[in-house]
Amino acid sequence: MKPILAVYPGSFDPITYGHIDVVERAAALFPHLVILVARNTSKAPLFTDDERIAMIREVFRSNRSIEVDGFDGLLVDYARRRKASVIVRGLRAVSDFEIEFQMALTNRKMSKELETIFLVPREQYSYLNSTIVREIARLGGDVSDFVPPVVRRQLRAKFRLRK
Ligand code: PNS
Repeated sequence: MKPILAVYPGSFDPITYGHIDVVERAAALFPHLVILVARNTSKAPLFTDDERIAMIREVFRSNRSIEVDGFDGLLVDYARRRKASVIVRGLRAVSDFEIEFQMALTNRKMSKELETIFLVPREQYSYLNSTIVREIARLGGDVSDFVPPVVRRQLRAKFRLRK
C-alpha cells in the first residue's frame, strides 16, 4: 500500500496554536502532510498568501514530514494533482459542523476518492480562531497565548505599518 498523503487546507490568516494542534495530530497519523494555504472566497485576508506560507514554514521548519504550499484553485484539483487521498480539517465546536459537513460532501461529490477526516484540537483552543486573534492584535492586545512568536511579530509589524 502506498503511503497516504494528507492535505490540511485553510486560510491560516494567521496560523494559531489551534491550527498547530491539529497539524501535530495529523502529522502523527500520516507520513507526509501538506499544510495548504487556500483561498476562502468569503474572506478578505489580512496577510498575503506568501506571508502566510512563510509564517507556517517558520513554525514547522524542523519537521521534514510537513510541507507548506499555496494554491488558488479548487482543493479537489490540488489533491488530485498531488495524489493526496485525505483532507484534514479541525472541528472545534458544533458551530463548525454545518459548513464543514457541506464542504466535505461537496468535495466528495467532486472527487469520490478523497476522504475528509476531522480532528478535534485540545479544548483550550476550542474558542480560538484567526478572526479573534487579528482583532486583538489590531487593538493592541497581547496574542502570545494564541499564536507562536513569528506570527506575533508579523501581526505587530502589520498593524504598526497601518497606523
Ligand atoms: O480556514 P478556512 O477559511 O475555514 O478554510 C476554508 C478553505 C480554504 C479550506 C475552503 O474555502 C477551500 O477549500 N477553498 C479552496 C477552494 C475550494 O475548493 N472551494 C470549494 C470548497 S467545497
